[in-house]
Order: sequence, then C-alpha cells, then structure tokens
Amino acid sequence: MYRTHTCGELRIANVGQTVTLSGWVQRIRKMGGMSFIDLRDRYGITQLVIDESASKEINNQAEKLGREYVIQIEGEVLERQSKNNKIDTGDIEVRISKLNLLNASLTPPFTIEDVSDGGEDLRATYRYLDLRRNPLKNALILRHKMAQETRKYLSDNGFLEIETPYLISSTPEGARDFVVPSRMNPGQFYALPQSPQTLKQLLMLAGYDKYFQIVRCFRDEDLRADRQPEFTQIDCEMSFVEREDILQIFEGMAKHLFKSVLGREFNEQFPRMSYADAMKYYGSDKPDIRFDMRIQEITDLVKGHNFVVFDSAEYIGGICVKGAASYTRKQLDELTEWVKRPQIGAKGLVYARVSEEGIKSSVDKFYTQETLAKVAEAFGAEAGDLILILSGDKKKTVVMLGTLRIEMGNRMGLRDNSVYAPLWVYDFPLLEWDDETQRFYAMHHPFTSPKPEDMDKFFSNAKEDLEQVSANAYDFVINGTEVGGGSIRIYNADVQARMFEVLGMTKEEAERQFSFIINAFKYGAPPHGGLAFGFDRFCALFGGQETIRDFIAFPKNNSGRDVMLDAPGPIAEEQMKELAIKSTL
Ligand code: AMO
Repeated sequence: MYRTHTCGELRIANVGQTVTLSGWVQRIRKMGGMSFIDLRDRYGITQLVIDESASKEINNQAEKLGREYVIQIEGEVLERQSKNNKIDTGDIEVRISKLNLLNASLTPPFTIEDVSDGGEDLRATYRYLDLRRNPLKNALILRHKMAQETRKYLSDNGFLEIETPYLISSTPEGARDFVVPSRMNPGQFYALPQSPQTLKQLLMLAGYDKYFQIVRCFRDEDLRADRQPEFTQIDCEMSFVEREDILQIFEGMAKHLFKSVLGREFNEQFPRMSYADAMKYYGSDKPDIRFDMRIQEITDLVKGHNFVVFDSAEYIGGICVKGAASYTRKQLDELTEWVKRPQIGAKGLVYARVSEEGIKSSVDKFYTQETLAKVAEAFGAEAGDLILILSGDKKKTVVMLGTLRIEMGNRMGLRDNSVYAPLWVYDFPLLEWDDETQRFYAMHHPFTSPKPEDMDKFFSNAKEDLEQVSANAYDFVINGTEVGGGSIRIYNADVQARMFEVLGMTKEEAERQFSFIINAFKYGAPPHGGLAFGFDRFCALFGGQETIRDFIAFPKNNSGRDVMLDAPGPIAEEQMKELAIKSTL
C-alpha cells in the first residue's frame, strides 16, 4: 500500500499512529542534526522529520533527495513542538522510520510555490509542473465543483444530459470554423462545432424538452483573456417555454452555484436591463453594475455655445466620477492621452471639477457658471466630483464613454472581485448591418427569433425596418463579463427561411448549408429556447480572476498554440496524401 493517509489529512488525533505517506518533496531543511522534509500531494503538505534516532540508511537516502522527488515514507505521527497554523496539518509531523525513493526528479525550471519565479511561457511549457501549484490546483477544484453542482441542479430540475457529436458541419456562431479533413471522404471536411446550437434544437424537435450538456466548443477567432479557441459551455435548451421561464430556471441555476460553491445567497431577483438602456447608460451590452457612474447625455445643455468641438458633435455626454475632483492637471493630461489611444479613439477629453466654490472646467471660456451648474446637476454631481465629457458620433462616443467608465471604475477601486453583480440584458437587436460587406449579420445567431411584435418589420425589405427588429434574446452578465447568452428560437420554417434570406443567402445556399434544420422544422417543431453559459468564464469569475486560462488544465496561449504539446504542427507528407490535401505554403 502506497499510503494510509494523504498529505493533508493528519491531525493531533493521529498522534502515536504509524502511517505511510507518499508524495513530492516540496522542501528540505536542515537544522542541527535534524532534517525536515515538506511532503506534498494534492491534499496538502505534511512535515516529515529525520531526527537523531534515524538509521544511517535513512540519513543517507535523505541526503540524495531533491525538490520534486517522489517518495514513500513510514513513520510515527508526533505532536509538533512549534505549530504551524498556516497549514491544516500544522499541529503534527511524522518521524520517518522508513524511506522509499519512488522516483527522482530533475530540478524543476521554476519554483513550485504559490507565487512562482517562472515566466508565463516557461510555466506553459511545463504545464504539468505549474499544475502542481496551489493557485492552479484550487482553480481546477473549483471548476470540478461548478460542474458537479451544475449537473445536480439541472438534473434535479428534469434536464437530461445528452452528448452531441464533435465531427459535424458548420454551426454559425460568428467565428471561423476549425475543420477536420475526412480520409474516407477525400476532399471533404467536418467542421468542429462552434456550439451545439442546431443539434440541441433538433433534440427539442425530437421531444427531449429539457436538455443540457457541459460541452466543448471550438472557435477560430482572435484570442483575449476571456477567450480560448476551445472552451466549454453549459449548453441548455427547453421546449414549450417563453423568455421568462428560461430566465427563471437559469437564474435559479446561477443562484444555486453562488450558494453551493461560494456560500453566497442572492435573495432578490437579479436586475434586468434592456440592451437599449445598457448602451445608453453604460456604453456596453455587458455593463459592470458593481458601481454606478452612469453615462449622461448633455447634448442639449452644452451645444450652441460657440465651442466648435461640441457644436459640430452629434452627441455630447459624460460620466461623473465621485470624489475625483482632486485629480491633478497631470493626471487629467494623462487621462486625456489615455482616451486618445487608438484602441479608444477619442479626439480629446473635456473635464469639469466640482467644488464648493463653483465648477472649473477645461472649457470655461465658453460656458457661464450657470450652464456649468446645469451640467453638474444633470450628473447629480456634488462638491468633490469630477465630470469627464466626450463628444462626437453618438454610437462611437457612447462606447468610448463606456470604456472610460470601466477605466475610472478600476482607478477608483470600484471593481472589487469579491463583489458579484449579476445582470440580465435583454431585447438585443436581431440584426447588425455591416458597411464593408453591405449586408446584415445575425447579432446572436440565425436561429434567434425576432420579437413577435416586430414580425412585420422583419418581413419588410426596408433596411431601416430591419435595423429596428428586436431579437427575443438575452445575455447573462456578471461584473461586466458576458457569462451566458441565448434566445427564444425560430420554430416556423417560413420565418427561418426569411432569416436566411435577410442574411443574404440564396434559397439554394440556405438549403445546402441548413437543409437538415429547414426540413426538420416541417415535422412539428415545438416552440423552444435556451441559452449557453461560458463555463470557463463562470469559473474564472467565481475564482476572482479575469483570465480563463488558469481554469483550464491545458489551455492555449494567445497565438492559439499549446506550447507544451507544440501544437499545431505540420503533418507528414504521407498523411497529407491520405487525406487528399495539399499545402499552399
Ligand atoms: P454565445 O456565442 O453567446 O452563444 O456563447 C455562449 C457563451 O460562451 C462563452 N464564450 C466563450 N468562452 C470562452 N472562449 C470563447 N472563445 C468563447 N466564446 C463564447 C461566453 C458566451 O456568453 N449557441 C449559443 C447559445 C444559445 O443561443 O443557446 C452560443 O453559443 O460566455
């Protein structure tokens, strides 16, 4: 038997017992004639001691040990002289009476400590060593708990977990597909699912009215901290439901996860906000509502005062940063440079400091104190506050203000990761017009239903009408991160055909790509809807992190590479031939 206990298990009650432990050598310390070894496994660390009573053989063996060696020991549990209250096993130590070297280790290229000295690339190359560190171990334990509790909640609520295939044809979610060549069908390719969207809809048709799956999705898109080319969704679908039914059941799931995994209770209903309000007041379709600092339009108040920048602008708006009037000139100049960066794209920044004495702004010469007072009032600003104003094209400026709002939230310490502010955003536009390609794209995906009251507009051929069609779609947002999204689906074959038409597909193209779903809809499709949560994002948020990478055992880097496996890589000429593919490189 390799072990009687784990390295996180022994307590004062075990004193006097003879135990066997196995694990990795974390540290070795020598003090006088004694040696101390910290033995580590997944469960914790136990201090081992070799004292004067140890045999020569044990001393010799211990002499050869190094960091990360794998050993098995037998010994008696003793009460420690000096206790360590930082670890669960801190009251005891084990006096080694037998030591068995199970495997030696090279010196690891970085320290296996909570804060490691290794850079990101190095740790990614040796991911299996990085995974030995507590922060990553805890992230994967959290992920496990999230998955278990998700399954429990959904199963208790009558959902069936059903797997769908990975080798399929294209599923339009707006990214590029990863494709897999088929040896048995030369010149033909499978596409890996960007999501199981169409398949789950077919399961509804088949009568499995409550489906879920914790499922891998594949999207070839530019990567960011919260995006991976393969990621996991909690994918769900229900039949005979309206939006409200879906929001209720999945709000229940989120609350269950908050409670069972983090011990947090949410007694109130989660707030809800229309897409229009989210954009107007937060400049984002995923507002971080941990802090207020809403965007306020002041076009009517300040236009027409001979300040040419404002007079020529379609929109003027700003945010009020509480308690930031003490921002120095230097800080404001730096902030101005910040908003002018190409990623944000503002032309300049106007500010107004509110104090007991009055309002001082960077455009004082154009405005009377009376006008400025009205501006301050519009923002609900008080003495000590700082108002930041941008102007320009309405759509773009509001988004810039949203970015500035988040930045100021960060600078003012208002984005505390231990606070959770969930939010439903609903009534997204159905379609997005793209000037470059001169066509509409589905904002969510082409299976999302227009709101019934907008059906006439949906069948109209006028661009302005189509732009105004709302989708019966909703997103679940926590702290400014889009954690989930879904919609009530189209279940009528004519409406679906119209959708493909609006998206610029000919009848033939739509048939070729989606005949399976178009045909299926002719066999009694129930009204249905659903959503998918980004499981990695959910886990990262629960773990208080912004990047999802540490919540995935073997993630890709920002160039989509697995540096440990050195993938992707070329394949042998022979294999290319077999698959009937040629490289153009
Ligand atoms: P959507 O495309 O919004 O919807 O995806 C659902 C959720 O998945 C997460 N997500 C990602 N997470 C990590 N890396 C990525 N590259 C990535 N892309 C998306 C997000 C997002 O909210 N089939 C629909 C759902 C439905 O309508 O039921 C879909 O996939 O958290």
